[in-house]
Amino acid sequence: MKILIATTNPGKMAELSSMLDLDIDWCSLSDFPNTTEVEEDGQTFTENARKKALGYAKQTGLWAIADDSGLVIDALDGAPGVHSARFCGAKDKNRTLIDHRNIAKVLDLMKNTPAEERTARFVCCLCLASPDEVLFETKGTVEGMITTEEIGQGGFGYDPIFMVKDLGQTAAQLPPDQKNQVSHRGNAIKKLKPLLITQLLKI
Ligand code: IMP
Repeated sequence: MKILIATTNPGKMAELSSMLDLDIDWCSLSDFPNTTEVEEDGQTFTENARKKALGYAKQTGLWAIADDSGLVIDALDGAPGVHSARFCGAKDKNRTLIDHRNIAKVLDLMKNTPAEERTARFVCCLCLASPDEVLFETKGTVEGMITTEEIGQGGFGYDPIFMVKDLGQTAAQLPPDQKNQVSHRGNAIKKLKPLLITQLLKI
């Protein structure tokens, strides 16, 4: 069975295929350079993940897994949310880097937000689609608090300002393995695995 992981990001590809750990011939969008980019213009993470999974499954004729993720901050009414990658404007294609401009915007918007109101979560939605239909979706979250300054050197995106609940460290301070264990993406992938196995047994 060949399944497309709808990303060109080698890190995401490696994380998904190794966490799923199934006897599947995985491929990524890098194997299909002629696909047209599916726009992430949905209002929710679920909508974007569905749109990408179905769009790329139709273009390649394969089952496709797509994800959408971001940071949801309660004090900002859910922002940056689906706009996480482009909170300051154009999307930063290099998502392996800390996005200091997006972080600065968040910290500025929250400069008067007291500690107890700085609750937030990372959310990840995953969707598996065949070329005809959405087969299933999963959602993973990780709860935390927004710090008042950047702490830690690792990770990417908003990791340095996300203090992971109960760990007392920001996502940027966690070793990658530990982050994957607790992360929104890790949680969504763990939920996806049994559903994928059930779906594969049907064919
Ligand atoms: P995408 O779903 O890979 O496009 O990610 C959307 C954006 O959400 C990223 O560019 C980051 O800004 C943010 N984001 C998603 N997951 C994480 C994470 O684990 N750490 C930090 N930022 C994240």
